[in-house]
Formats: sequence, C-alpha cells, structure tokens
Amino acid sequence: MEAKRVAAEKAVEYVADGMTVGLGTGSTTAYAIHKLGEMVKQGLKIKAVATSTRSETLAKELGIQLVAFADIDQIDLTIDGADEVDPEWNLIKGGGGALLREKIVAAASRRLIIIVDESKVVQRLGLFPLPVEVVPFGWELTMRKLADLGYNPRLRTENGKPYVTDNGNYILDCRIGLIDRPGQIHDRINSMVGVVDNGLFIGYASLVIVGYHDGTAKELPRKDEP
Ligand code: 5RP
Repeated sequence: MEAKRVAAEKAVEYVADGMTVGLGTGSTTAYAIHKLGEMVKQGLKIKAVATSTRSETLAKELGIQLVAFADIDQIDLTIDGADEVDPEWNLIKGGGGALLREKIVAAASRRLIIIVDESKVVQRLGLFPLPVEVVPFGWELTMRKLADLGYNPRLRTENGKPYVTDNGNYILDCRIGLIDRPGQIHDRINSMVGVVDNGLFIGYASLVIVGYHDGTAKELPRKDEP
C-alpha cells in the first residue's frame, strides 16, 4: 500500500554505512526491509537484528547481513511499525504478534523510528485490541484475571489453534476501550503473574513517520504530556 511504502522509504533515509539496524515486523516494516535490501545491493554496509523469524527470513532473502542479538552491544537505529500511535508517540504494537522481541530490540536501540500509514494515528489509544503475551501454562487463569479488570481478553487463534509467538507464548487480545493513562494500564497488566509483556510502548519512539494516501510522508509532531 502506497502510504505504508512512502513512510518506510522516508525512514530508511536515516540509515547510514556501518550502522547496526533493528528490523521490526509487519507489512509496513517489510517495505523498509525491501528498500534496505536494494540499498545493500548498491553498496550500503549494515548489520541487522530482526524482531521476528518472518523479518529474519525476508532480510536473509534480500542479502542483508544478520547478527545475533547476543553478539551486539547496542543497536543504532530500529525501524518498526505500530497498530496505533497517539500524539505523545505512545504506541500499541503486537498486531503481528512480535511485541516482546520488538520491545527488547527497541529498548536496546539508540533511536526507534516508527512508520505508520495515516489510519494508525489516533487521539487516544485503545480502539485497537491491546495484545498481551502470556505464558501458556495457566493462560486460562491469566485470562480470567484480565477479564476481572474489565479488559475483555480473547485468545488469539490461528487455524483453530492458539496462536504461538516466536517465544512459544500465547496472545490475549484485550478490548479495553479508549485508554486514559497508558502507563498505568501497562504497569497493571505487566505486574500480573503469567503475563510476559503487553503491546503498550511508552516512551520508546524517537520519531514517528506517517505515510499518507496521496503519496507523501511527514514526521508526526510530538505533543508533550500535560
Ligand atoms: C507486529 C507489530 C506491527 O508493527 C504492527 O502490527 C503493524 O503492522 P503493519 O505494518 O502490518 O500494519 O507490532 O507485532
């Protein structure tokens, strides 16, 4: 889709020779990986760390050199998508199921560039169901606890079976409704036994690039918290 592609192509302009680059997951990031593949063929020298087996496979196919996360000290720049972005650059991520590795890579990155099409920009997070990654053991109990908080969790499935993340966990998609204090919800969910992490990314983004259907891409101005 044009809006996703233009956002991705603007983001890769920040990639330079010698960088270690984090590769996010999803259809928008796939455009960035394709573009990086072209740039590598033209001589760009980078090393990359992938946030999912999907992105790893794509990068390998395109001839991008991959390094193990264990072998690097820091990532210079990560490019990743999002499911929702608010004016303070808080994010919901994990629609593609890669939220945990995405957050680990984001936390190890000097800069995180988020690329989205215009439909992902919202005034308040929460219309998109919040993905919560949980340990399979006792997931029913974890789900009941999330339900008790009024978060309306639903087990994500694939071909009639629980969807399993790259880390061997399940995902509970929570229909919380519009979120007033994302930081509070993030901490409340992550303090539950059985929860590994949730898709709220607070304070990780360094830049948000929005692609529009007219083929333009612009940086989203960041509103400071009140
Ligand atoms: C994967 C993610 C993705 O970045 C998010 O779901 C956006 O995906 P897409 O670019 O396909 O719309 O968080 O876990």
